[in-house]
Amino acid sequence: MMSQDELKKSVGWAALNYVKPDTIVGVGTGTTALHFIDALATMKNRIIGAVSSSEASTIKLKQLGINVFDCNEVDDLEIYVDGADEINHNMQMIKGGGAALTREKIIAAIARKFICIVDESKCVNVLGRFPLPVEVIPMARSYVGRELVKLGGQPVYRQGVVTDNGNIIIDVRGLSIVNPIELEHKINNIAGVVSVGLFADRAANVALVGTANGVKVLE
Ligand code: 5RP
Repeated sequence: MMSQDELKKSVGWAALNYVKPDTIVGVGTGTTALHFIDALATMKNRIIGAVSSSEASTIKLKQLGINVFDCNEVDDLEIYVDGADEINHNMQMIKGGGAALTREKIIAAIARKFICIVDESKCVNVLGRFPLPVEVIPMARSYVGRELVKLGGQPVYRQGVVTDNGNIIIDVRGLSIVNPIELEHKINNIAGVVSVGLFADRAANVALVGTANGVKVLE
């Protein structure tokens, strides 16, 4: 039996096949993305560098000798490689378990291809079993919470967490997300919401799923 971490490692390394020489690579956040960074380091002399979705990933990239660029210096990104907390059959995802959702959304928006790397435990029919993270400006916490209740969720303030952007995270439990794009737009429209961890409007283009029988490629 392969452990969950071995499955994460298998897809982290499989994503290396999508990295083109002489490009800047978008790099995500989390334990699966960390395996991808290890893999990417083996190509560090053949790529220009990376843009990173978190302070944690930036530290690891730099430790391994990979150049990290500011997002504003980069106007064209071929791929963005990142994990997810859940992914459905339409390649729509819940992300933000690691609180990096806003930077992840920005890099995903810039990239031509989103390559999602997950172990098979993340694959679901309907999104929402994993509490949906929402990044919120601190002064709007209570208001946004009340609006999320109106949408049918149970908001829970993630204690002790401040995002890289200085904001808070509310995790929304109890949602069964049958129309992910509609819900993404509704939550984005609440005043005080910075971003929501639903990646539905901009879903993944490729999913690499780690299974006991090898890496499955969905596109
Ligand atoms: C961070 C994320 C991660 O991609 C997600 O939480 C998956 O993490 P892991 O690879 O550690 O299971 O969205 O904000």
